[in-house]
Amino acid sequence: MNDDLASLIRTIPDFPKPGIQFRDITTLLLDPDGLATAVRRMVDATRGPVDLVAGIEARGFLFAAALAVPLRAGVLLIRKDGKLPGATIAEEYALEYGEDRIAMHADACAPGARVLLIDDLIATGGTARAAVRLLRRAGAEVGQAQFLVDLPDLGGADALRSDGIQVDALVS
Ligand code: PRP
Ligand code: ADE
Repeated sequence: MNDDLASLIRTIPDFPKPGIQFRDITTLLLDPDGLATAVRRMVDATRGPVDLVAGIEARGFLFAAALAVPLRAGVLLIRKDGKLPGATIAEEYALEYGEDRIAMHADACAPGARVLLIDDLIATGGTARAAVRLLRRAGAEVGQAQFLVDLPDLGGADALRSDGIQVDALVS
């Protein structure tokens, strides 16, 4: 069984722009043992009761749903703006390679809902911090965020901690 998760993630140079070392997790997703190990470790690292697992489009959705089932939580979708059908709230953010805007349904969580935030990767933290701003605007209590991969040189995990979030990642 391959439980060395780092060895299952490959690096694609110059994607999507010159100079970016893209950490590609599709190779881990293809590996049944690697995927099961990643999900189990994220479940084990979850602190406290969780009402909703918030997943960030697109790769974050995969892990959010996989964790929500054993945690007996629902899944809240945080999507690129313009994709959700109901009334939304949105936040803009800067990426390692551009800018974007994410949104969630305004009525997706009850005030005080305990939310675990999930994404595949944290780099600058722009995406995750925008997600936390959104969730807090909606009245959620966001205690923890988990990622498969942290790129610590880009400082995102520390920035998210400075927002009062407990941050965990399986691979650094
Ligand atoms: C990637 C990744 C995170 C984000 C991290 O998503 O899945 O969501 O970048 O970067 P940050 O910490 O600098 O904000 P991307 O925007 O490439 O979208 P995708 O998952 O839809 O491909
Ligand atoms: N999202 C932001 N930066 C990234 C990187 N270097 N690899 C994969 N996803 C990313």
